[in-house]
Amino acid sequence: MSNFNHETVLSVHHWTDNLFSFTTTRDSSFRFRNGEFTMIGIPVNDKPLLRAYSVASANYEDNLEFFSIKVQDGPLTSKLQHLKTGDQIIVGRKATGTLVIDNLKDGRNLYLVGTGTGLAPFLSVIKDPTTYERFEKVVLLHGCRHVSELAYGELITEKLPHDELIGDMVSAQLIYYPTVTRDPFRNRGRITDLITSGKLFADIALPNLDADKDRVMICGSPALLQDTKNLLLERGFVEGNNGEPGDFVVEKAFAER
Ligand code: A2P
Repeated sequence: MSNFNHETVLSVHHWTDNLFSFTTTRDSSFRFRNGEFTMIGIPVNDKPLLRAYSVASANYEDNLEFFSIKVQDGPLTSKLQHLKTGDQIIVGRKATGTLVIDNLKDGRNLYLVGTGTGLAPFLSVIKDPTTYERFEKVVLLHGCRHVSELAYGELITEKLPHDELIGDMVSAQLIYYPTVTRDPFRNRGRITDLITSGKLFADIALPNLDADKDRVMICGSPALLQDTKNLLLERGFVEGNNGEPGDFVVEKAFAER
């Protein structure tokens, strides 16, 4: 059996000149845990050209969704950005990754720290009822350079609170905190600085991070991961991974360069 399925593109949404999302059909045999990634791509010169992409849809949804940057000279995304409804893409049959709540010890509040397309795995995690069963508050932090890059804000603030399955949990437990660094906006600054200064906790009216109680997932650029990880290690947080749950887990956003 092939390691790949062929899926049909159902919709494409362009957020900015540099960011877009698309949905596809989902083979009924494709299973994943919310927060995981798989390989996706298209044939180029008769060979599959593939990159890792977090699945942005939840594992109980009928379709798959992906959130991507567009790199004008990137081998894959220079082509992928031209996808249209009805086109075919290749999707790996296997999903993997560390950003799953099974890799976290039980705790009080869960912080999801994502920058840029690093938001994608958390879109899946915040749709998972188990996330709300395991944690009291779920704080979704999305950091971008510009306001226009704060994709999915409407899904998070308008659609999910009215969702039949998870609406009540989202309304009561999800706190969405978008922040930008290079435009005027109600929340400004890097996520790391907002944590260090305590401004984040004052704004959302929650206690400061506590390794005994709080859990964190991080997805973004290598620099973001390193700085956030250092900040957590200084506060006594222990990193978890598959097989060994911890206080935080980390994965780089899969950007094409
Ligand atoms: P900044 O504008 O100050 O670089 P990028 O597009 O480079 O991945 O950045 C996405 C967001 O993450 C930007 O708001 C950026 O802020 C922020 N960022 C980049 N590097 C770090 C880091 N090391 N720690 C915290 N935030 C970061």
